[in-house]
Amino acid sequence: MKKVVVVGSINMDLVTRCKRAPKGGETLFGEEFFQVPGGKGANQAGTEVTMLGKVGKDSFGKDLINSMKESGVDTRYIEEGEKSTGIAKIIVEENGQNRILVVAGANSEVDKAYIDRHLDVIKECDIVVAQLEIPVETVAYALAKAKEFGKMTILNPAPARELDDEIIKNSDLIIPNESELALITGMPTETEKEIKKAGEKLLDMGVSNLIVTLGSKGSLLLNRETCEFHSAYKVKAIDTTAAGDSFIGGLVRELKDNNVGEAIEFATKVSAIAVTRKGAQTSIPTIEEVENFEGVKNEEK
Ligand code: RIB
Repeated sequence: MKKVVVVGSINMDLVTRCKRAPKGGETLFGEEFFQVPGGKGANQAGTEVTMLGKVGKDSFGKDLINSMKESGVDTRYIEEGEKSTGIAKIIVEENGQNRILVVAGANSEVDKAYIDRHLDVIKECDIVVAQLEIPVETVAYALAKAKEFGKMTILNPAPARELDDEIIKNSDLIIPNESELALITGMPTETEKEIKKAGEKLLDMGVSNLIVTLGSKGSLLLNRETCEFHSAYKVKAIDTTAAGDSFIGGLVRELKDNNVGEAIEFATKVSAIAVTRKGAQTSIPTIEEVENFEGVKNEEK
């Protein structure tokens, strides 16, 4: 089985559920508040995955490490930074849509020196997964090192930002949503035709595979040989937080032993279940739950 390392963020999510989010200057009552483990990096790390990142010297940091350990994540190389643990204030509206404000805290201290201290972890793995909630220079450095050691690299370019050519060249598989793809390529991604055109630009820049996540519609796999649409399942979403993260976590787990098409089918089930539950890591299903999932596909494109 292939070894996976996730280099990324670890956050405590402070979630408020409400009918609708307040407008500027408006005060509303929420319905429910809860605190759950999150962070795009940690959300994408599952059982038998090694996590590289930083937390603060505080109770959030300790709780997050314990929760990852309980899920089977190798947390041995997570360090304590000077800043407090990263947090995300999340508002989830009745329809499941969310708004997220992240304070990076210790995630912003994941620097090149930290990567250098843990180069052996990267050398010993097969797949390196990264997102953009730690400094982009660190992501670029970690991906470059991973490529130097001949590893497979996966980048989820979220939160959305422009990227330089070097990062793109050092990513074997990029997994953006439509708006992230638009920002990276500077091209429109409103229609399927536009998405394919923008995707081809990334392939021309050296990416071997691209999976564009399309929310409730599904996802599109693009590479030099194929352009494959994978439809999503029809589910009643109550919280879309970590929908993309759970997809990537599931995908990476399956890429350990299967081809990308099969891995996408598994990942589609993982995120279908995740959006029917509250919270980030609290919504991610077990392998048994995914294997027993019997959903109906949403055939609408
Ligand atoms: O993608 C969802 C994640 O984004 C949340 O868990 C939150 O921590 C933010 O990082």
